[in-house]
Amino acid sequence: MEEIEILKASDKKTRLIPNLPDYKSLYPNFSWERAKSELAWFPGGKINAAYNAVDRHLDSSACDKIALYWEGDKGEKSTYTFSQLAKLSNQWGNYLKKSGVVKGDRVFIFLPRIPDLFTSFLGILKIGAVAGTLFSAFQQQALFDRLEDSGAKILITNRELSLRLAEIRNKLPELKQVVIVDDNDFQKNLSAEQSDLEVMPMDPEDNAFMLYTSGTTGKPKGVVHKHLAILSQHVTAYHILDLHDEDIYWCTADPGWVTGIGYTILGSWSNKASEVIFSGRFDASRWYQILQDYKVTIWYTAPTAVRMLMAEGDLPKKYNLTSLRHILSVGEPLNPEAIRWGLKMFGLAFHDTWWQTETGCMCLVNYICNDTKLGSMGLPILGLSGGIVDDRGQEVPRKTEGNIALRPGWPSMMKEIWKRPEKYQSYFVNGWYISGDRGWEDEDGYFWFIGRSDDVIKTAGERVGPFEVESALIEHPAVVEAGVIGKPDELRGEIIKAFVDLKDEYKAKIADKSYEDQLKIELSQYVKKHLAGHAYPREVEFIDKLPKTRSGKIMRRILKAKEMGQPIGDTSTLEEY
Ligand code: WT7
Repeated sequence: MEEIEILKASDKKTRLIPNLPDYKSLYPNFSWERAKSELAWFPGGKINAAYNAVDRHLDSSACDKIALYWEGDKGEKSTYTFSQLAKLSNQWGNYLKKSGVVKGDRVFIFLPRIPDLFTSFLGILKIGAVAGTLFSAFQQQALFDRLEDSGAKILITNRELSLRLAEIRNKLPELKQVVIVDDNDFQKNLSAEQSDLEVMPMDPEDNAFMLYTSGTTGKPKGVVHKHLAILSQHVTAYHILDLHDEDIYWCTADPGWVTGIGYTILGSWSNKASEVIFSGRFDASRWYQILQDYKVTIWYTAPTAVRMLMAEGDLPKKYNLTSLRHILSVGEPLNPEAIRWGLKMFGLAFHDTWWQTETGCMCLVNYICNDTKLGSMGLPILGLSGGIVDDRGQEVPRKTEGNIALRPGWPSMMKEIWKRPEKYQSYFVNGWYISGDRGWEDEDGYFWFIGRSDDVIKTAGERVGPFEVESALIEHPAVVEAGVIGKPDELRGEIIKAFVDLKDEYKAKIADKSYEDQLKIELSQYVKKHLAGHAYPREVEFIDKLPKTRSGKIMRRILKAKEMGQPIGDTSTLEEY
């Protein structure tokens, strides 16, 4: 094994005394029950996550504190205090109530990161409805699957994105209304709403928000989280993001992703954080400009973004980034190289955090107060125990590869998979929540990531199910069947690669090389246009016959082995290959 590099906690330059000063002594004594007193409760043990994120600060000095520094793609700027966020979200709540939304209804948001995304999200939770978020990269097929499965009653979007509904709107009988936020009449109506609202007290177990995420098989599944999730998000944001009153915090994630909900809306605002939200796309100079202009002190981002910044070399040296004091990452393996680069450029180490849509909060993390072992995901958060188990849920010895597993009982563990109870049950084996990731635990209890145990693809941090991409490809007239895998890529972690079996007439046509190249591009663009702007195959290869099991399931593991030039392994269930 390679020599492990360690950054001592005492060598970290995070400037303030960390909110969690000593992991070893606090871990054994932590209790979620006691942590509940950090939140605001309604009589009878009721709670509301949105009230906790925003409204409960209104009778403190944070009332007029800036909660949101917003910057648009074109450089537009605006700021919102906690009290303004509270009022705007109340108006959303009142508007939605008038539109007939009642407790438990699903209201989906399909918007870029503009202020209405955040205020409507809060408004939905305040009236007891369930907020669903959708990446603005989604195209009609991805939208249809999610809106249909969730039975969303209202969709909040803008003019431009609403065009993608054209062909699916009439196939969604449960969708009663599409709200267009950049419509002048709508904005007039919204601002005419009362800015007072009776926030609905919820049972801690009541549904609050949901996100669709991918597995190996089938369409994406709706992971539902409850109001109590804010308890874990609040505590982890405090301990791990290390939010102090004077901090300026920037999380680069979109709320279409659980990070953008847990640590842009709920857990971070619940800690009264002043946040930067930038609605534009990745751009290295622009990002450094934002870090500099807003004097960002805490920055939570993702490994692909870090690698893209690394590709631009010494660029950070042109900016004054001395305000930064703590940097973190999530979503994919963070290589030691990226940490070393961060140390060189910012004098700070990226602190890796591991978690999932389903876990609702960070789970395995690098705390400031602990030594960082470069390349490790770190230690379980307070209030959670992790383990490495075999397929029957038996713990394996330290330093042995197995499934990364967690002991259920932390407050933000998903509550259900929407309408699929058997799917939900399939996560649990012998009293463990099985993550779907493989890894190992070292002699000090640090967790190390190895890979997925299933066919789920992680491209630029986004989780993509091969089945969704295969289904989109099959819709194309040239395609008989497709098998989709993740292919390792230095920048994006993985890229999507499709193996495609063509109809005979097209097989004949691709004898012409230029036609073959053109068809590959066409298929790739087809998926981009119908499914999603980020979930399309960057590589297409035509193949005569896809490897399958006798029961007809495509064996992606064989495609992957072939791609990687590895031995093909056990083929006893193969139909023929
Ligand atoms: C999957 C979950 C919660 C936001 C992240 C995206 C991979 C996540 C790490 C990490 C290595 C990681 C895992 C996991 N992943 N964080 N620090 N190191 N891999 O959530 O889209 O549900 O994806 O992302 O494979 O299972 P998600």
